[in-house]
Amino acid sequence: MMNDRCRDVTLRRLTAGDDAEFLAMLRKAWYAEHPEPCGRLMAEVDWQGCLARATEALVAVDATTGSPLGVILVRVDALDRRPAFNRHRRRAALAGLRLAATRGGARGLAELTAIDLTDRRLLREAVGKRGGRPYPAEIVLFIVAPEARGRGVGGRLFRAAMAYLGEHDVDEYFLFTDTGCDVGFYEHQGLARMAARDLADPGSAYASTFFVYEGRVPPLP
Ligand SMILES: CC(C)(COP(=O)(O)OP(=O)(O)OC[C@H]1O[C@@H](n2cnc3c(N)ncnc32)[C@H](O)[C@@H]1OP(=O)(O)O)[C@@H](O)C(=O)NCCC(=O)NCCS
Repeated sequence: MMNDRCRDVTLRRLTAGDDAEFLAMLRKAWYAEHPEPCGRLMAEVDWQGCLARATEALVAVDATTGSPLGVILVRVDALDRRPAFNRHRRRAALAGLRLAATRGGARGLAELTAIDLTDRRLLREAVGKRGGRPYPAEIVLFIVAPEARGRGVGGRLFRAAMAYLGEHDVDEYFLFTDTGCDVGFYEHQGLARMAARDLADPGSAYASTFFVYEGRVPPLP
């Protein structure tokens, strides 16, 4: 259903031509305190790592100008038939190697690794609370350009992701988030917080609490 506040927005699939735009968006949102080229490479590791897991990638664009406003990446486990070390995983590994060889990059790599380990622990905890039942799906990445926030774009992308999950008979999913994100959006959507962990890097301004949330897919209209 079209939301009035974003009637000038359309959705389409992600293309390779969108990479630069969303890399810049991720860098600004989550790696801004890291200097060049460290921050850009961290964003690249993150972006490619997300693409490596996603089975669907939807972009919201300004219907008039065609410029991308936001993206949501979704994963349905049962639909992913790619090899574990797919081309995005290889690109993420390559960006990680370049990051390691960059001045200040070791710290950036350590930060990404610590987040990854924290996320794995969170997921184990959440799955444990469900009696060991794994989640069939994940919202992998969700971001809207700062200037486009608050006018229904994110809501539209989120509903499209739910429709994708519903079409594939998925009724529940998980996602990772942290205090550097708009966690309130997920609370507003009715998702349940399953586990939380603090992660602090005493050598930088970086300190966050990380969460795993669980959501149920609304029935298809
Ligand atoms: C989270 C995000 C994608 C939401 O996109 P958005 O376009 O601003 O969201 P919308 O305007 O479509 O809001 C949809 C609904 O969520 C609510 N909402 C949005 N952000 C919220 C917040 N932080 N807390 C509570 N409610 C929120 C809106 O009020 C709206 O409610 P309504 O449908 O009842 O009117 C966007 O804020 C963003 O990109 N944040 C930075 C990246 C981020 O945190 N990503 C999330 C996970 S890591």
